[in-house]
Amino acid sequence: MAQWASSAVRALRLWGPGGERAWARRPRIAGGWTPIPFSAGVSSVFGNGGDSKKEKLSLQDIAELIRARACQRVVVMVGAGISTPSGIPDFRSPGTGFYSSFQHCDVPYPEAIFELTFFLHNPSPFFTWAKKMHPGNYRPNIIHYFLRLLHDKGLLLRLYTQNIDGLERASGIPGSKLVEAHGSFASASCTVCQRTSPAEDFWASVMGDRVPRCTVCTGVVKPDIVFFGEALPQRFLLHLADFPIADLLLILGTSLQVEPFASLSEAVRSSVPRVFMNQEAAGALAWRPRSRDVLQLGDLVDGVKMLAELLGWTEELKDLVQRETGKVL
Ligand code: OAD
Ligand code: ZN
Repeated sequence: MAQWASSAVRALRLWGPGGERAWARRPRIAGGWTPIPFSAGVSSVFGNGGDSKKEKLSLQDIAELIRARACQRVVVMVGAGISTPSGIPDFRSPGTGFYSSFQHCDVPYPEAIFELTFFLHNPSPFFTWAKKMHPGNYRPNIIHYFLRLLHDKGLLLRLYTQNIDGLERASGIPGSKLVEAHGSFASASCTVCQRTSPAEDFWASVMGDRVPRCTVCTGVVKPDIVFFGEALPQRFLLHLADFPIADLLLILGTSLQVEPFASLSEAVRSSVPRVFMNQEAAGALAWRPRSRDVLQLGDLVDGVKMLAELLGWTEELKDLVQRETGKVL
């Protein structure tokens, strides 16, 4: 307990509120991130040692480990890439990503719309973007349902998402299994008096092209999504409990550019396999690979379908998607 408390305090100090920027857009926090004591008291089929003598793994090996229940505490990290098949552009893909396509004469650079200082100066561009993100506009896709199946089979320890589109929840994964690390549109609060504002009122204003205002103090109401420079939700601290006991890390559709989320990819024990499915290699998995990493590069839908096939889950996944969406795969 004392360990938890001191780690928690350290984490909050490093990432939490304060004058300095809580998020770095560089691959790592300058000066390094104090590592969590990952493996104390934990044993697993993979042991705790270094990874130098371990054999190379393939996606098929990972599927076999899951089938044999040698991996049954799976932690998943996801980013905007899992929602592109639902029609939501990611942020950093050249050409199609939000940051390369967004143009607005009042915005100095696209990331500014997620910066608190700019938002307080001019909230309208953010709400123009938010209007497109209305929860009714998008549906979960096969990747979300694959993760739901992982949960249904009792294999999902926790899903850490950077996405604010709410599609993990919409796929039926319970809130207790989710860490929405960059917040969500599910709630909104006043930037002045901090009062919570009903989501319906917030959306009514946004859909009517009005800046939502607090009914008490008239301050601008902002959804509880994490802007650059803001602290992450308390639930993010669950990583201190989850990552040391994870026996498989699945990372899907993220450029691993935004801290502190990106550094979670290094928070599993060195002997734990990490599977990274993405269009391209990125983050620590590119610049500090481990011998038990599996990189499945290319389209995520193909990668997820392949993993489902290797697991023998294809029919169940098709049934689940059909049941939930009425779509036949
Ligand atoms: P990025 O846009 O930075 O990265 C998405 C990654 O997914 C890229 O590496 C893409 O190549 C990959 N990708 C996209 N579609 C894919 C597909 N169909 N198949 C395979 N790979 C695909 O998004 P994030 O890493 O999530 O903050 O960005 C992190 C944070 O930066 C976001 O949470 C956001 C942003 O500022 C907020 O929204 C507050
Ligand atoms: Zn207020």
